[in-house]
Formats: sequence, C-alpha cells, structure tokens
Amino acid sequence: MQATQQTIPVQLTTRFSSTGAIWIKLGVLYLLVGVGLGIMMGASEDFTLRPVHAHINLLGWATMALAGLTYAVFPEAGRSKLAQIHFWLANVSLPVMAVSLALILTGTRQALPALVISEMLAALGIITFAINLFLNLGNRQA
Ligand code: HEM
Repeated sequence: MQATQQTIPVQLTTRFSSTGAIWIKLGVLYLLVGVGLGIMMGASEDFTLRPVHAHINLLGWATMALAGLTYAVFPEAGRSKLAQIHFWLANVSLPVMAVSLALILTGTRQALPALVISEMLAALGIITFAINLFLNLGNRQA
C-alpha cells in the first residue's frame, strides 16, 4: 500500500519584534572581533589570548545574540527597564573585561582591579537578565 502525501498547514507568518535587533547586531560585531582574534592566534601560533577569544565569542556573540532572540520573542521583557540595565551592564563590562584580561595575560598585573570589577558587572548583567525573564516572560505580546 502506498502512503499518500499529506500537506500540513504551517503558520509561516509568525513575526518577531525588533526589540532584540540591537543585541544581535552588537553580538555579530563581537563575533567578528572574536573570530578575528582566533584567526590571528592560529596564524601566529601564539595562543596566549585564548581565554579572551573564548569570552568575546561566548559572552559577546552566543550570550548576546541569545538574549536578543529571547527579547525578540518576548518583547515585554525586551522593552522593560531591566532589559535596559542588562544591556548597559553587558556592553560596558565585556570590552573592559576583554582588554583587562588581555593585559593580565600579557603580563600587566595592574589591570586586575579592572578585570574584577568588569567581571562583577558582567555577572550582575546576567542576574538582571534572569530576574527580567522570571518577571516578564509570561506576558508575550507581539
Ligand atoms: C573562524 C572562527 C574561529 C577561529 C579561527 C578560532 C580559533 C581558535 C583557536 C586558534 C583556539 C585555540 C586552540 C588551542 O589552544 O589549541 C580557539 C579556542 C577556543 N575557541 Fe575559537 N575560533 C573560532 C571561533 C570560535 C567561536 C565562534 C567560539 C564560540 C562561540 C569559539 C570558542 C572557543 C573556545 C571556548 C576555545 C577554548 C578556549 C580555552 O581553552 O581557553 N571559537 N579558537
């Protein structure tokens, strides 16, 4: 017996809010920097800045773009005051963290306070993100 092909109607018109767009655009900029650093490490065979590369790619691209997608799907959370606080904490802390970590790895120990403070700010950003999602994820409104 031959199986007949069935057409399953699929809703292709789902629209996401543009709330998360700025997060995704910044994320892809971090990805360009992170990948550029990776290529430089590979070409020079000097892997000293490996943790900088990993943090730019994972916090800058993966985490940032995922936050953007989450805020696009849940614009109520994306438009909240907590999202604004999260945005600034994430985007102020990461460049400082990347530069101070690079300085420490290349021998400038004086950069340690900047690294500690930027790491704390980054963690605060993640905590803000978590609180925002727990408070505002229920209210999906396109
Ligand atoms: C063209 C793109 C990329 C290039 C050329 C590249 C290059 C490199 C190189 C040369 C290393 C060091 C390997 C070693 O020490 O043996 C490395 C490590 C690593 N990369 Fe990439 N990478 C790329 C993209 C990415 C992306 C997109 C991510 C994450 C989203 C990522 C995450 C990591 C992590 C987690 C490590 C290990 C860090 C560590 O051990 O401290 N990389 N990469």
